[in-house]
Amino acid sequence: MNGILLLGGHSDIGGDLLTRLCAGRPVVLAARRAWTLTEVAERATAAGATEVHTLDFEATDLASHRALVDRAADLTGGLGTAIVAFGILGEQRRAETDEAHAVEIATVDYTAQVSMLTILADTMTRGEIIAFSSIAGWRARRANYVYGSTKAGLDAFCQGLADRLHGTPLRLITARPGFVIGSMTEGMDPAPMSVTPAEVADAVATEITDGKGSTTLWIPRRLRLLAWIMAAVPRPIWRKMPR
Ligand SMILES: NC(=O)c1ccc[n+]([C@@H]2O[C@H](COP(=O)([O-])OP(=O)(O)OC[C@H]3O[C@@H](n4cnc5c(N)ncnc54)[C@H](OP(=O)(O)O)[C@@H]3O)[C@@H](O)[C@H]2O)c1
Repeated sequence: MNGILLLGGHSDIGGDLLTRLCAGRPVVLAARRAWTLTEVAERATAAGATEVHTLDFEATDLASHRALVDRAADLTGGLGTAIVAFGILGEQRRAETDEAHAVEIATVDYTAQVSMLTILADTMTRGEIIAFSSIAGWRARRANYVYGSTKAGLDAFCQGLADRLHGTPLRLITARPGFVIGSMTEGMDPAPMSVTPAEVADAVATEITDGKGSTTLWIPRRLRLLAWIMAAVPRPIWRKMPR
């Protein structure tokens, strides 16, 4: 029960978190284009992973989820950590008129997450599952409401699931980062309190190894204060906020 499953094998945050957790453990990387995971696999091996397997994973293929988790458990002799790091930002402007794109964002960032988290919580008996919410879900913004709405829904799901698992040997940690400078936000101006994938990974890894059992992590921690201020901003001002 020591295996690690990274869903979204090319994720900047997921990859950085994996290297902090994988020493002495078997790893499964699941991603689209699994054959391109060589570099991530090499990093994991260099960080001490005992074996690294790769599996093809398409998040929108919901019917494939359970078999993939079963396969990862078989390959590793049982999962002790699952990192649910797949996701898309999508294009807000396009999603406002292209319902297929809006649904794609909703499917990857909400429906597929709910499917995977349900299966992982059903399959795993101990250890931790890590899910990624966002400040974007705290209060939906006109400039980012499609992605933000998925994070709001996912966050609510995670709060309930974490409480369901409370008191069991399995726990769910929900990371709530602000703006993370990386592939997902490439070309965008960093927002206040931006962090790097490494900082997000450090916060989650520290909670797993030395934490006090927190179920939700604001990253950086002071983002929590900003979130409460955000909630109090009057709507006529809020609707003009950039993403
Ligand atoms: N970056 C931020 O500012 C930020 C802030 C708060 C929360 N988060 C959340 O943190 C998590 C990790 O983000 P990140 O910054 O590590 O993003 P990232 O580097 O862009 O990684 C996301 C990964 O998801 C994969 N993915 C997208 N659609 C998929 C699909 N249909 N099937 C399978 N895999 C799919 C992508 O795979 P491909 O390589 O195949 O495209 C990509 O490798 C996400 O849930 C994100 O929403 C990010």
